[in-house]
Amino acid sequence: MPSNLKNKKVLIGISGGIAAFKICELLRMLVKAGASVRVVMTESASKFVTPLTFSALGAESVSTSMWDPGRDSLEHVSWADWADLFVIAPATANIIAKMAAGIADEVLSTQLLAYDGPKLVAPAMNVKMWNNFATKRNIKTLKEQGIELVGPTKGHLASLIEAEGRMAEPTEVYKSIEKILQSKADLEKYRILVTAGPTVEPFDPVRFISNRSSGKMGYAIAEIAKDRGARVILVSGPVAITPPSGVELVNIETADQMLKAIEAKYKYIDVVIMTAAVADYKPKIYSRQKIKKTKSDQNMLMTKNPDIISTLAKRRGRKILVGFALETQNLKAAAQKKMLEKKLDMIVANNPTLKGVEFGSDCNKASIFVKGKRATDLPTMTKSDLAGKILDEVIKLLKRKKK
Ligand code: C5P
Repeated sequence: MPSNLKNKKVLIGISGGIAAFKICELLRMLVKAGASVRVVMTESASKFVTPLTFSALGAESVSTSMWDPGRDSLEHVSWADWADLFVIAPATANIIAKMAAGIADEVLSTQLLAYDGPKLVAPAMNVKMWNNFATKRNIKTLKEQGIELVGPTKGHLASLIEAEGRMAEPTEVYKSIEKILQSKADLEKYRILVTAGPTVEPFDPVRFISNRSSGKMGYAIAEIAKDRGARVILVSGPVAITPPSGVELVNIETADQMLKAIEAKYKYIDVVIMTAAVADYKPKIYSRQKIKKTKSDQNMLMTKNPDIISTLAKRRGRKILVGFALETQNLKAAAQKKMLEKKLDMIVANNPTLKGVEFGSDCNKASIFVKGKRATDLPTMTKSDLAGKILDEVIKLLKRKKK
């Protein structure tokens, strides 16, 4: 294994589960790759594997209790400052619950609460515990805090049944560690807000007007930006896809709610990327009761939604504003016009009626327009690859603005 984690500091938190034995292999892989590793174990974890095993396998230090005589009295803070990454593996339902609630009542949970860097959680538990409502809610809370997860996978559990709850294999955990520690961190200093999906504009409690946006483009941008080190806030309309872990998710339905959600964060944001398909109009009247069918035709009165990105452009400061233009004809001219009218730094133009890049597709074919530069026409590529290209341009704009 190449020594590609040289000088990286990894703190492994082991909680009490039989999968603790897998950490022996993980620790060896990390040490071989050049990482410095410290281990912090709960009391129950040390019933499965002894602390000595981890010291013998190359851990710099192993902490098992708040009350070790040889322990530095500020260890819970100094270790937290030391680490580049805190890996919690195996993570039991109990430690996950403590993380979600902010409980610090033993050595591992105390270190976790004192640590504000990136965390990677590898859950391992019985399938019923994994499917328990409380665990699901706690996992959701962790994801919302930007904490990364790896696994669990489906396979033989300690109870010998085949179900979800098995800790990811050490090689998988290692890959996630590598990904976090080696990411191209060129967006590290920046906070990026991405909007995605459709907005939904209701006109009675059961009906609404919306559009076909899948949210895939915005979710891909959010994920790649996060992988490149940005703090990402994803403001999303209702979509059927899973949000990337490690981003702050804000769910909204209407355009008004989207604007409000962005405004609440706007002050702290460096870049706004609006991929959302915001409904241009909303029903003028909202009926509190379901509208009854009648024998005659019906007209619906519509009123304009706020143009979110134009509203933001009025108070932009040094922020970079990126829009998307979705056109089925005269794509380029319309995109360029939109960029100027909405006072954007950049606009990404695409036509969802082209073959292979239809609504909901994993691919896209786009042209990127940057203010003051010639347009770049890109070939068809995955939405993740396109996200990378968009972010490359965003970086250039951020650097240009700084000068
Ligand atoms: O005007 P049009 O909808 O084509 O503009 C597209 C761009 O403007 C997208 O980036 C979209 O997210 C944004 N937009 C907005 N508020 C609206 C409509 C569109 O911010 N009400």
